[in-house]
Amino acid sequence: MPVQEVMNQTAKLQLGDKSIDLPVVVGSENEHAVDISKLRSETGYITLDNGFGNTGACRSAITYIDGEKGILRYRGYSMETLAENSTFLEVSWLLIFGELPKPGQVEDLADRIKEHSLLHQDMRHHFEGFPATAHPMAVLSAMINASSCYHPELLENNSIDESSLEVVAMLMAKVSTIAAFSYKKSIGDPQRYPDPSLDYCSNFLHCMFSKPYGRYSAEPEVVRALDLFLMLHADHEQNCSTSTARVVGSSEANLFASMSAAVCALWGPLHGGANQRCIEMLEGIRRDGLDVKKVVERVKNREFKLMGFGHRVYKNSDPRATILKKASDDLLKKLGVDDPLLPIAQELEDVARHDEFFLSRNLYPNVDFYSGIILRTIGIPIEMFTVMFAIGRMPGWIAHWKEQHENPNGRIARPRQVYTGSPERDYVAAGSRG
Ligand code: SDX
Repeated sequence: MPVQEVMNQTAKLQLGDKSIDLPVVVGSENEHAVDISKLRSETGYITLDNGFGNTGACRSAITYIDGEKGILRYRGYSMETLAENSTFLEVSWLLIFGELPKPGQVEDLADRIKEHSLLHQDMRHHFEGFPATAHPMAVLSAMINASSCYHPELLENNSIDESSLEVVAMLMAKVSTIAAFSYKKSIGDPQRYPDPSLDYCSNFLHCMFSKPYGRYSAEPEVVRALDLFLMLHADHEQNCSTSTARVVGSSEANLFASMSAAVCALWGPLHGGANQRCIEMLEGIRRDGLDVKKVVERVKNREFKLMGFGHRVYKNSDPRATILKKASDDLLKKLGVDDPLLPIAQELEDVARHDEFFLSRNLYPNVDFYSGIILRTIGIPIEMFTVMFAIGRMPGWIAHWKEQHENPNGRIARPRQVYTGSPERDYVAAGSRG
């Protein structure tokens, strides 16, 4: 990974009468960082950065984002190029192993995923214990951790390489089966077992929608739209859930525990939960016949946030949103489906793109703004939207966990704090407290 410690280039920090030179690190896309590793030991100071918006947690070679230019690349390949030419499994291989798969490699991954797509029979009892109303993200996180109990051999040595795809295939297979099983449980349907004759996306749709009396066979356009959806969600550098996976993994916790924690972080409405909240917002506008311009005024009055808008990194449009906007329109046209939420979403985007409140804050549609339209068109229930994000993000989480796990200089994540609590005080016995 071409990272240069820029020799002799330092940042001078003046703290009172003390000054310190800090090394400057320059990434392969010319990003500059001040390495503060020695700051506390040499000055007693720490830094403070709410939400880590200015703090690099690591060096990484997996995904590059230029938020100002709206650039997203997986291992150097642009999102647009991959969306046009690649597949979810091929991109998963690229993210995890760093290169596009050679002939036979992605087929090997697909075969290993099929081998692991069944859950241990005992895990069926876990599903029986969940209420039908259980949120599928709670089920997914619990079942990822639970599945590790049946594979103790994978808990100790989570080494991931091109020859031992076990743990990669297992996680990518199980999330799909767990997701579909949790949906079947929620609607009181018998679970449908995976079909090894189908590709990853077709099999997921089969497990979701086949009935005891009728087998579901997805239209090619639907399979391609789902594959594109998963590919676009596959990684996004140090986002909240990926950082969670890295933090948990930094304690040498196993891959299953790290992925389970990442699912929990993704669940939040400010992160992966936004796709569900965005469709609920669009449905509310349609159901109540609200005027889009008045909705935007309420957002500007801070009554609520425009879900699916804004991003910590992108200060230009999120390239994924652009791709998903076109893909949702294409899918609806190909299937001859008319979704009333799409024109509402398009009008919201148009109004916001011409409004100073949004422009001045660099607020544009993000990956969650149009993704829900595709999922609705496929027939995915809204409660499952964030689970779909998790299925897509699994290879990215694995790639980052692996990158950190293999870093010889890796350290356990343990941030500092600025204490603002009470100074030392004497204990007061319960009977004497006022
Ligand atoms: C994802 O990190 C990633 O890469 C995430 C992700 C990935 O692939 O992993 O891209 C996936 O999580 C996309 C984001 C999904 N979340 C949403 O769509 C929820 C709505 N968006 C916001 O909550 C917000 O934009 C965040 C959480 C995405 C980003 O928050 P930041 O970077 O902390 O920005 P901020 O809250 O400091 O906002 C800056 C200003 C504030 O106004 P002021 O106080 O300066 O006047 O912009 C405003 C905010 O109030 N603002 C919004 C807004 N987002 C920010 N106002 C209205 N609607 C919004 N959506």
